[in-house]
Amino acid sequence: MALDVPSLDEALALSDRLAGHVGWLKVGLELFVRAGPEGVTRLRQRAPIFLDLKLHDIPATVSRAVSAARALGAGLLTVHAAGGPGMLRAAVERAEGLRLLGVTVLTSLDQSDLEAAGCTLPLEAVVERRARLAVGSGCAGVVASPQEASRLRQALGADALIVTPGVRPSGSEAGDQRRVATAREAIAAGADLVVVGRPIRDAPDPAAAARSIAAEIADGLGGR
Ligand code: C5P
Repeated sequence: MALDVPSLDEALALSDRLAGHVGWLKVGLELFVRAGPEGVTRLRQRAPIFLDLKLHDIPATVSRAVSAARALGAGLLTVHAAGGPGMLRAAVERAEGLRLLGVTVLTSLDQSDLEAAGCTLPLEAVVERRARLAVGSGCAGVVASPQEASRLRQALGADALIVTPGVRPSGSEAGDQRRVATAREAIAAGADLVVVGRPIRDAPDPAAAARSIAAEIADGLGGR
């Protein structure tokens, strides 16, 4: 569950409401900038922490940030695969028990966004190239959209973790996400973990929304 909320109190309240319904608590940029390491330490007592900081900088800076994240006791940490082989290797060297996920192409981007940023390859090819680079550099897995999960499962094999945001119950708002699918589709396509934020956070009954996504996940596992 993505704890995309503006304060630690709200994150703690939401994680309490969702206790038993979600496997990981994802601390992203908004919450980390507001609640910092103390927030991670408090939330870690409730469930394992997925620290979604999407690190992307020179190798020396990223390796020091990875050490700091490891000391916080997070279980998963994101780095941008576009940071290149040197940055990824530097991150992996410091990760030890912390599992790194390489972000391939943000799920809010489509082909025209990539082209606007100077990347003219087909989007799926960019996702696959960055995924291979991340896992080849020692990352435990990748973040991609559900639409690429099956291609990535083929490319990366059974051991790589495939984590998919951009998950929406059918008929719900996509918001700023461009490459979306349901949790059932993501899991059936080979994803190991789905990341869900707004469809749970903004639901009138977040625990009921989480339960319904859990049912879709079970359905998707049945469809493999
Ligand atoms: O609200 P929503 O379900 O769209 O939230 C998706 C979460 O996944 C957000 O916290 C966002 O930062 C994160 N994310 C993403 N796309 C990626 C990597 C992470 O949407 N490629």
